[in-house]
Amino acid sequence: MTRVTVVGAGFVGMTCAQRLAEQEVANEVVLIDIIEGRPQGIALDLNQAAAVEGYQSVVIGTNDPKDTYGSDLFIVTAGMPRKPGMDRSDLVEINAKIINAVAEYIKQGSPESRVIVVSNPLDTMVYLMAEKLGFDKCRVMGMAGVLDSARMAFFISENHGGGVKDTRCMVLGGHGDSMVPMPQFSTINGVSVTAMFAQSDIDAINQRTKGGGAEIVNLLKTGSAYYAPSAAAVAMAKSIMRDEKRLLPAAAHLTGQYGLEDIYIGAPVVLGKNGVERVVELELDDEGRAKLHASAEAIRQDVATLAEKGLV
Ligand code: LAC
Repeated sequence: MTRVTVVGAGFVGMTCAQRLAEQEVANEVVLIDIIEGRPQGIALDLNQAAAVEGYQSVVIGTNDPKDTYGSDLFIVTAGMPRKPGMDRSDLVEINAKIINAVAEYIKQGSPESRVIVVSNPLDTMVYLMAEKLGFDKCRVMGMAGVLDSARMAFFISENHGGGVKDTRCMVLGGHGDSMVPMPQFSTINGVSVTAMFAQSDIDAINQRTKGGGAEIVNLLKTGSAYYAPSAAAVAMAKSIMRDEKRLLPAAAHLTGQYGLEDIYIGAPVVLGKNGVERVVELELDDEGRAKLHASAEAIRQDVATLAEKGLV
């Protein structure tokens, strides 16, 4: 019996539950939210869809944290999304309170679980979650790099008119304006992107990647992206639940890699049954390293804001 819980039944949470069920990532997919009726309604709908799609996973919608007890893995999406014009950091205070409450019942009922945080501002919320849980840090991580890399891959494929399938990108750093797209570690079936595109095209792709979330927020006007974020979170969950040991970028706890310590920030990691099983250190040039450190500084500022308000 395996159980994965999705916390928050907003658009990201409900599409995570759908993908988890359709891909049979766990026998039971629990969807929990504080809004009465919403997770139960979504669960019913998904269980009825199983009659057509043929998946075996069962979805349980609930408002009761006890129903999450014994989960192998959590995907935490609960929190306010951005509105147009807002920075992810504008959400620090309100989402920190939600993370605190969720951490309570994860710690209480699922002490062996692995936890993927999706709520924004991402790197700060993962840090907070890890502090509150007190778990081994490799069992707590954040989803951002897979999403940001997917956005970069799409923009690259759009630029050269080819399929996105063979495009593999790497984006490091925080999930914010300071993220660091890495064209030198991005390839189309092994062929470096830097060898295929003019620098001006690469610069434009990097820029659009950094603003990838905001571009969608501005178009949607209410809420933020959810298809790619849920696809990214579920890819990570699957790598852990099936011990696939995929190398993916994720917000992980650094202990000196890249010259950074005691921070959660996006880096390439190997995800297996134990969570983050390895942080891979890429060889960065001075510019890349400086950008990564600037991104770390932006995260530390958000963490300091939390500390000032007594939330961490
Ligand atoms: C985004 C949100 C999920 O980047 O941060 O779309």
